[in-house]
Amino acid sequence: MAALRALLLRVRAPLRPVAAGPPPRPFASGAGFEYIITEKKGKEGNVGLVQMNRPKALNALCNGLINEINRAMEAFQQDPAVGAIVLTGGEKAFAAGADIKEMQNQTFQNCYSTGFLSHWDRVTHIKKPVIAAVNGFALGGGCELAMMCDIIYAGEKAQFGQPEILLGTIPGAGGTQRLTRAVGKSLAMEMILTGDRISAQDAKQAGLVSKIFPVETLVEEAIKCAEKIANNSKIVTAMAKESVNAAFEMTLTEGNKLEKKLFYLTFATEDRKEGMTAFVEKRKATFRDQ
Ligand code: HXC
Repeated sequence: MAALRALLLRVRAPLRPVAAGPPPRPFASGAGFEYIITEKKGKEGNVGLVQMNRPKALNALCNGLINEINRAMEAFQQDPAVGAIVLTGGEKAFAAGADIKEMQNQTFQNCYSTGFLSHWDRVTHIKKPVIAAVNGFALGGGCELAMMCDIIYAGEKAQFGQPEILLGTIPGAGGTQRLTRAVGKSLAMEMILTGDRISAQDAKQAGLVSKIFPVETLVEEAIKCAEKIANNSKIVTAMAKESVNAAFEMTLTEGNKLEKKLFYLTFATEDRKEGMTAFVEKRKATFRDQ
């Protein structure tokens, strides 16, 4: 046990801690939110759905909307029944960016002293897999929010862009970093320097999204993928997610070392034993997230 604890400490050391703060308030499905709708989906209710619902402003990401997304994500993170989360918007817009009207009179002094928008990346601290289901516009902060998720599925009319340059600013929620890692330097530079948007088809070809679906079936397909993920061991899934994300933070040697430690750690779980035993006994594994 002591050896396991020591291994856990070493494995966790280089990773960012989960954002501090008060524990999320639990919520009943859909209750108490102004800008989002939440529901449990999937045959066993093991998928958390967060739908941005500010259609008149094309889901422009005002402070209230971001706070509600964070609250819902953290509540699904705490919910033991939920194994994966889908984040979506409406058919016209996933999100058209940060709320420009809210930002219009912002000053450098205030941005700097209050850490303006620093709470935007809370989605990246969620251990459960998050799938972005993007229909319509994913622009500026909307594209950045999608890129904070683990998988992006797109509707066939989706458009991705970082148009901040046209507003006299630059992406500030990871766009210059995550887009460049996702699509490579030339396309990222082109999008960020011109503000031009790319189609779902171009986004798929560039590796920004993994699958494209008709507009009407996109969310359903994202839920199906989330359900598939949620049926696996939650604890081992979290390790797999941690390991893939390390690829963006570490050298190959460091990343491979972390992967090996996490792989060894799966042997400390009952689910690893059950998975392999079920295979040998030719039956379906029953994971208990232990
Ligand atoms: C505030 C927005 C908005 C935004 C749209 N709206 N995007 N409000 N912030 N980002 C509002 C419009 O003002 C309008 O409100 C309503 O939504 C419908 O928008 P329209 O422009 O009338 O729709 P349409 O003609 O279909 O054009 C859609 C669009 C365009 C191409 C997406 O709205 C657009 O260019 N939006 C801005 C996109 C953008 O620049 N995003 C980056 C933001 S900066 P009213 O009240 O007039 O009906 C950013 C920085 C992130 O994200 C930095 C770090 C977090």
